[in-house]
Amino acid sequence: MKPAFRAGPVHVRVPATSANLGPGFDALGLALDLHDDLVARVVDSGLAIDVAGEGEELARDESHLVVRALRAGFEVLGGQPPGLELSCANRIPHGRGLGSSAAAIVAGLLLARALVLGGEETLSGAAVLELADRLEGHPDNVAPALLGGLTVAWRDGAAVGALRLQCDERVRPVVLVPPFQASTEAARGLLPPAVAHADAAANSGRAALLVAALTTAPQHLFAATEDRLHQAYREPAMPASIELVNALRAAGLPAVVSGAGPTVLVLARDDREVAQAVAAAPGRWRPSVLSIAPRGGHQVAAGH
Ligand SMILES: Nc1ncnc2c1ncn2[C@@H]1O[C@H](COP(=O)(O)OP(=O)(O)OP(=O)(O)O)[C@@H](O)[C@H]1O
Ligand SMILES: [Mg+2]
Repeated sequence: MKPAFRAGPVHVRVPATSANLGPGFDALGLALDLHDDLVARVVDSGLAIDVAGEGEELARDESHLVVRALRAGFEVLGGQPPGLELSCANRIPHGRGLGSSAAAIVAGLLLARALVLGGEETLSGAAVLELADRLEGHPDNVAPALLGGLTVAWRDGAAVGALRLQCDERVRPVVLVPPFQASTEAARGLLPPAVAHADAAANSGRAALLVAALTTAPQHLFAATEDRLHQAYREPAMPASIELVNALRAAGLPAVVSGAGPTVLVLARDDREVAQAVAAAPGRWRPSVLSIAPRGGHQVAAGH
């Protein structure tokens, strides 16, 4: 039986996310205070998509990532609505390593769930995470996009786990966003099939230290953000980003590639480090001082 749909529009807000954070490859992620706002409504027929901000150039049809996630959500919830109107106010830049695809997927799933009466009972938070992971291909961005804060995500066979941790309040993320994109697929294609045991061992230690540094001991963030598994291999796809990470690290700042790049993330700890990171942004790169978003994707009450 087809599900019953809500008559009015629903509004969800989803944060940008930065994955990996250096050595936490495919596992660690941080939700950032930069959001996409999406409103969807069930209508009698057709598909109408309105986009303002980032992604205005994308095709407004069934290939739109938010629509694909909405469709996947409705499928699990019992069936498709007769027609759909979607309106996106996008602030997360695309193809920059700030989790725009995860935000689009999480937004679509949360919208579908909110548009179906009783959707929350049918589709649990864990089920949304698993669907989002399947659509995105990896869990490191969708976990913080759903849960907010700092997250550790992992796969266990077909199941996905995610744990939300409280990030130390002294941590002040600064993102340096270049004017060009890099594709996640291309950046992944540069990774070798195997790495030296010494590199794997070093990364395991740093990833463990990173969780401690981000939650209670930010004085160790510099050592904790050293990566040997992915960043250097990706240099051909983003030489300017790796050069900037190296320059920032040479100045003592905990800098990493954000997600699959090319954005650079600095986990600053005080005003001086924030100012140093902002001043390091080359020519047309845009620096943003962000806070950590405590909430993941959520429904916004009407009138907000
Ligand atoms: N809000 C959105 N609406 C529709 N499509 C989107 C949206 N956000 C992302 N996409 C799709 O996802 C693509 C970007 O995904 P990609 O994974 O390469 O980059 P990212 O998610 O911004 O960065 P990263 O995954 O490294 O954090 C866009 O080119 C577009 O096709
Ligand atoms: Mg992505």
